[in-house]
Amino acid sequence: MQESEFNRWLLAAIGRSPTAFHVAANVRDLLTDHGFTLLEESEPWDLSTPGSYVVVRNGSSLVAFTLNGEDPARTGLRMAGAHTDSPALKVKPSPIRRSHSYVQLGVEVYGGALLAPWFDRELSLAGRVSWETGAGGLDAGLLDFARPVAVIPSLAIHLDREANRNRSINSQTDIVPILMQAAADGNEPVFADILLAQLRRQHPEIDCRAILDHDLFFYDPAAPTLTGLAGEFITGPRLDNQLSCWTIARALIDAPERKNSLIILSDHEEVGSGSPEGAGGPLLDSVLERLFPEPGQRQQVIRRSLLISADNAHGVHPNFTDRHDGNHLPRINHGPVIKINAARRYATTALTAGFFRLLCRRQNTDVQEFVMRSDMACGSTIGPLAATRTGMQVVDVGVPTLGMHSIRETAGTSDCPGLLRALQGYFSLASDDPLWHGWLS
Ligand code: CO
Repeated sequence: MQESEFNRWLLAAIGRSPTAFHVAANVRDLLTDHGFTLLEESEPWDLSTPGSYVVVRNGSSLVAFTLNGEDPARTGLRMAGAHTDSPALKVKPSPIRRSHSYVQLGVEVYGGALLAPWFDRELSLAGRVSWETGAGGLDAGLLDFARPVAVIPSLAIHLDREANRNRSINSQTDIVPILMQAAADGNEPVFADILLAQLRRQHPEIDCRAILDHDLFFYDPAAPTLTGLAGEFITGPRLDNQLSCWTIARALIDAPERKNSLIILSDHEEVGSGSPEGAGGPLLDSVLERLFPEPGQRQQVIRRSLLISADNAHGVHPNFTDRHDGNHLPRINHGPVIKINAARRYATTALTAGFFRLLCRRQNTDVQEFVMRSDMACGSTIGPLAATRTGMQVVDVGVPTLGMHSIRETAGTSDCPGLLRALQGYFSLASDDPLWHGWLS
């Protein structure tokens, strides 16, 4: 795939995936369209023949793997991981608020969102809803209004003369999206009825008596786009971490010769990964246990496997260069970044970093490195969780971005194609290649 063609595909995939639920569903469909067999965790698995498989948990996390017939206890698994969720505003259980002539929806802040950019944008609403069926059963599915349905207007500067110097944002009172004008008759709208009407518009065939509950998030429905005079930047919502999810999935599909491989895309990273489907939970362990039930064999597989954990890195911001260590200044369009931290907020070691560096060199991909300023606290990602839960070796990497956790973030057009090349080479790496297993000591 040409770089420009891949970038077009990438931006379209992000635009179609407003929440972690949509990422998991869309990646699942992409993989099954390319020959992966869908497995259910609640059913027996027949993995006696070599093949490619995908399993989804909670509709928001996904594991896919290829077993090519070689003995995994000798070859290990070429693993890559990323997270499906992004910071957002999550709708409260009983969200309707009425203030003067406005109907608003109460929200909780999901993850470490940068709140100021949420003001004055057209917002849409998407996620998952559960409902009672006509027969009194329970069912659930995806919902996406897919058009602007709300806005959070700023307070005019005339009413807050200090706004450009210090405006703080109260997440209970200041960022409540306006959904509509109140009806003249004073009747309150019923949120479940609004959702039911949207569900029926989207899926007229669904047998739904009443909406029961919802996991819904406000999001920016404006499509991700190319910008910069030469179109060298990408701006868009949810680049952290959908850039990595989609690049990993595409690399797995397009790898010239897919060896024993596994990808894991986890929900809930932005809130600490503690859930049955998050990277702090048992999903990866459960899959490995089912693939390799004998503990000794499983340990061999884990020790011979490597996880490339991809999550966006902080590119150096030209207006705030002092926020970086002067020797570690990742630049957009200069390649993926290896992330290193002495306190193990990243799981990278000299061995795993060395592997990634040589892999990138071989795949004609530039590589950079990031370490936080020593006087600033470092973020973390799924890599250290996978490393400490399973005992496998991990390298934390990511494409450089600006404005991380804003409603729209900025990245470069050549960094994901570079990561794609590296990962394609990775998933195709022969088991007797001197690079593979070079980190075993
Ligand atoms: Co992230």
